[in-house]
Order: sequence, then C-alpha cells, then structure tokens
Amino acid sequence: MFRHDIIIVGGGLSGLRAALSVKSADVAVISKVHPLRSHSIAAQGGINAVLATNDRCEDHAFDTIKGSDYLADQDAVEVLCQDAQGRVIEMEHWGTLFSRTDDGRIAQRPFGGAGFPRTVYAEDRTGHHLLHTVYEQALKKGIKFYDEWLITRLVVDKGRCCGVTGYNIPDGIIEGFQAKAVIFATGGYGRIYKHSTNSVINTGSGCAVAYRAGAQLEDMEFVQFHPTTLFGTSILITEGARGEGGFLVNRNKERFMKRYSPHQLDLSPRDIVARSIQTELNEGRGFEGGYVHLELMHLGKEKIFERLPGIRQISIDFANIDPVEKPIPVRPGQHYSMGGIASNKDCETSISGFFVCGECSCISVHGANRLGGNSLLETLVFGKIAGENAEKYANSHGEKELPEKAIEDEKEKISGLLERKVGEELFRIRDELKTILDEKSGIFRKEQDLTIAIDKIRELKMRYGNVYVRNKGTIFNQELVNVIELEGMLDVAEAICLGAKARKESRGSHFRLDYPIRDDNNWLKHTLITFTPAGAQIDYKPVNIKMFPPKPRQY
Ligand code: FUM
Repeated sequence: MFRHDIIIVGGGLSGLRAALSVKSADVAVISKVHPLRSHSIAAQGGINAVLATNDRCEDHAFDTIKGSDYLADQDAVEVLCQDAQGRVIEMEHWGTLFSRTDDGRIAQRPFGGAGFPRTVYAEDRTGHHLLHTVYEQALKKGIKFYDEWLITRLVVDKGRCCGVTGYNIPDGIIEGFQAKAVIFATGGYGRIYKHSTNSVINTGSGCAVAYRAGAQLEDMEFVQFHPTTLFGTSILITEGARGEGGFLVNRNKERFMKRYSPHQLDLSPRDIVARSIQTELNEGRGFEGGYVHLELMHLGKEKIFERLPGIRQISIDFANIDPVEKPIPVRPGQHYSMGGIASNKDCETSISGFFVCGECSCISVHGANRLGGNSLLETLVFGKIAGENAEKYANSHGEKELPEKAIEDEKEKISGLLERKVGEELFRIRDELKTILDEKSGIFRKEQDLTIAIDKIRELKMRYGNVYVRNKGTIFNQELVNVIELEGMLDVAEAICLGAKARKESRGSHFRLDYPIRDDNNWLKHTLITFTPAGAQIDYKPVNIKMFPPKPRQY
C-alpha cells in the first residue's frame, strides 16, 4: 500500500497544475502514461485570456456564456475569466515560450465565438509548450510520480474517499493508494467515438471509475465535434488556422459559412461550424469520400511557417499535402467532452475528499458548447483551485484507512478476467461501440437513433460480461488494460445517449433533428446521471444564471 496526503490521478496540465498548488502536504501524481504523453500535449491553437487594455473579463465571460448556449454556470465562468490573465502570466514566468508580437508583447489570435482576439498561443503547439513548462516545475518541486498505473477504483468508505486502487501496467501488480484527498484530472472520453482527435488514452476511465464509486456525471450529452480534423486520420487541424485567416470551401468552391453564419463566418463557435460542414456533406456539396477544403494558401508561406508549422507538418506527413500549395481536406470529428464528473466551482464533488478538474470534470464552464481556447484555460484555473482545496481538506481531516478488501476485490476481478479461456473479443465490442456512437449519437441526433444506440450499448454490456483476454501475461499487457477500460467506456457511452435521448431540445453541440429549437422553459437545466445497481438514474439541477440571462444566439 502507498500512502500520501493527496493523490492526483492524471499527469496532464490540470493534474500537474493541481500538484503545483500544494504547499504543505505530501502529494503524488499517478498517470496511465508518462506525464509528457498526456493528451494536453496535443492542444494546438491556444489559451484564452484578457491581456489587452481594450478587452474586458466581462466580454470574455459573455462570449463563453453565449457560446455555451447559456448552459454554463455563470459563477464558475466568472472565476475562469477573472483568473485567466494570472494563469497565463504565471506560465510565462515559469518559462512558456509564447509567440510574440513585433514589439515583444505576448501575441493573441482570433478564435471562434470570441468578440476579441484573445487567444494566446505558442505557434500551433500551445499544449506542448504549456505541458513541458508545468512538468519542469513539478520536477523542480520534487513531486512524486507513479507513471503507467491504471486506476481501477475510487475507494469510498461511508461517504468519504480514502484512496484508489491501481494496476501497474509494466508488471501487472495491483496495489492500493491511500490518501486523505484525491483529485481526478483524468481527461476526456473521445476514444469511445471512431472519429476523434483524442489520443488513444482518452477512454473516459476516470469518469467511469468515479461514476461507479457514486459520483454523478453531468451534462454528458454535450459532446464537442471539432469542425476541422484531417480527412482520413481525424488528427486535429487547429481552429487557429481559421483564426489566422483560413477559410472553408465546398466542392463548388463556395465559402459556404456565409449561408450559416453571415457575421462570424468561419470563426463561429464550433458547434455551428461543425453542423454547417456536416450539412454540406449530407447535402452532397462535399468532396468524394466526405470532406470539405480548408484553404490557407492565400496566407502565404511566411505566415504558415511562423504561426502554423505543426499543422503544415501534419498535413504533409499524413495527407501528403503542403497547405502552402494546396487546400487541406477536413471533416468534423469528436474533440471534447463538455460533460464530466459533476463538481462545483471549488472542484468539490458529492463525495467528501474527492475533487476533480480539467476535461473529466463538469464544473460547468463550457455548458452546451466550449469555445476554442477555453479548455487549456480551464486546466490551469481549476487545476490550481483543485490543488488548493484538496490541500485544505487534507490538512483538516485525519487519515482514513483504505480497506485491504478493496485491493483484494480488484485482484479477484482482474484474475477472473485473465482466467476466462474463451469468450467475446475485446476488439469486436469496442468497434461496435464506436460505430454506434458515430452513427447514432453524433452531430445530428434523433429519438429513434438514440434508442437504437442505448439498446446496442446495453447488448454490448451483456456481452462484456463474457469478455476474454488472449494475452495472459503480466508485463505491459495492453490487451488487459483495454479490456478493463472498455467496461468504463460502455458506462460513459450509455450516460451520453441517455442524457441525449432525454433532452428534447437542441442546445449547443446537442442537436436534435426532431426537436430543433432551444427550449429554455423546459430544458435550461443540467443533466445528472447516477449509477445504481438497477441502472443509470437521471436527475436535473438548475443552471447558475448570474449576469447574462439567456438570449437567442446569433452569429
Ligand atoms: O483548434 C484548436 O486548436 C483547439 C483548441 C481547443 O480545443 O481549445
């Protein structure tokens, strides 16, 4: 058994920023991968903050709330926007090499849904630069890391969290981690979809583990589809490309965004741009195979080399296309989870001693649709808060013994999986899950499709009961890791589809063909899904409306 005051699960930006907040308690970070392999590394376009004297936090908050289709909790958005400048400057002081203006100030670019160019960036590799910076700071501080441990259970005893159990991927050992406070910063669940910008580690395992332990999942039906992923690979092509002046065209060479969003055009919020592209494809104005073009050629070589070198290289390496000379073929793909583990703006959950931050959490600052540049910001703002509040909790609560039985139960469960000699193939269940989500719970949804998806997921859950692991080894048994995670992927998928079927309106990223209008009278509320042995239970809670009452959303 390992013992620490605070355990942080997740070595990405939010987890590491949380660890850096802790001043007077013993803290350890557990990660499924080396922290520098966390998905934060893949963030491209930038991080939003009010830096210019002619920009205002109120305007950033308004853009965020309007972009969220008024589902964001406004008290939390206020915290996000007011703290943004402090977090960006802190990163600058810690060594992040942000791109600069000619006169040496931190450069900012326009992003979708924003009324001001407030996205700070480091070329188009912002996540990479930020993650390296916080990792360096964590090393400097001497934070203890447990790399390549998959967390299998959040242990809760009489309503209080007392630690986690983990499976050590390199050698197959199962162990307990006792802590006074636990923070989950485990990232999103994008890989339950087939077309996703997310790295393979984004299986939603943290959300699933918390859900099984009694934490509620909030607003899971709000899944973000990024408008521009590289056709054929689903690799992210940053919104920064449109921020720098790139635009979308269909096979008729038409800049079609003018029909959907006459004012903000290609820089509308993502839900609108993704739906517009999908409509072009559905109505036959896309290119053969299902994509549109993102044109950057007019920006010129110099600007592309200076501001967008990452996506140029990706286009060359994966599509044999140099965007200096030719348009990039793009289509929408799953990108982000607005929903997650329900939490307040102090990063507290319904379980005493259990805190969350980053993409696995639903605080909810993004509501029904996140603005580009606000997720990196959320990781730093709420990572800091999660660390501070976990520390206060740990310093004011005594030890709580992690029962040995929790570890024994996990050992039994995993040996049960390994002992089965025949059964269902992991790959088949996982592939069928991804296909059903892409086809029935994507950008456009309807009741009949969501019913089919829920029925299918329940069938897959039954089949999972008989899943079989071919590889019986203990050393880097990735098949076993995938099987353990698949159970959680099925739970997360079910929560998404249940929330989506129940929500009979269209709001932000959740578009119902059979209920195409936003319905504030009945649906201005958050969805909560709770695990019960009899099945998932759906409840609702009000949205915090503080300064901006809902209005129709026009762009
Ligand atoms: O398009 C992008 O660079 C993505 C940014 C984000 O998701 O915030």
